[in-house]
Amino acid sequence: MNTTENKNEMTSQKIKEAFNREMVLLQKIYNKFPWQNREAYARWLAQTYHFVCHSTRLLSLSAARFSLSQNKFHLRCLDHMKEERSHEILALNDLKHLGYPISQFPESSMTSAFYQSQYYLIDYAHPLALYGYILCLEGISSTAGKDVYGQVCKAFGEKTATFWKVHSQEDDGHLAEAFEKLSMAAPTEADIILQSLKQSSDLYRMILAEIISQVSDINAFSRSEEDLQSYGRSLPA
Ligand SMILES: [Fe+2]
Repeated sequence: MNTTENKNEMTSQKIKEAFNREMVLLQKIYNKFPWQNREAYARWLAQTYHFVCHSTRLLSLSAARFSLSQNKFHLRCLDHMKEERSHEILALNDLKHLGYPISQFPESSMTSAFYQSQYYLIDYAHPLALYGYILCLEGISSTAGKDVYGQVCKAFGEKTATFWKVHSQEDDGHLAEAFEKLSMAAPTEADIILQSLKQSSDLYRMILAEIISQVSDINAFSRSEEDLQSYGRSLPA
């Protein structure tokens, strides 16, 4: 193995280790998330819609910032942009089929912080920072997507799960591609990617935790199924 190959291998290893650590944390909250609770899933779809609207914009910003010497990354961003086209519409349609208008769920501050920080990192740190955000989102889709897709289909039907259908199938390939490209990053660039990965994972978990707490609060003040049934039985026929 020559020096360049050795350096690439070390960079790749460092990113994969950090990625695996973040996936463990993300998987824990995905396991806790009540995917079969209609209100929780609707809130998840809505916040997903709000940040996925920015995917192609972030990719085009990142693409424009790469120098000619980093053309491989520039071209990969262009291809990725095409693959992400209109994906926000999938989340919006799933939400409609679930029975909610997007106007019911404004963008949360956590969601704003999640994607807005990427505009800053791309502009002021390095365009490769976006890979941290991509690894976070595509990583958890690839790890947990098929299971969540199954749960959502079972609870609400396939028409409410097109976002998960697409992402549980596509993101495996995206991830392999991302790791291959990232082995070519310089050590200082790898550090920026790791910062973005950790930050994205922290903020994404906060988005999910906020939804879990909102739904728990709502449930704390609502009648139980049992209570509703006994009330129904006491009504005159
Ligand atoms: Fe997507």
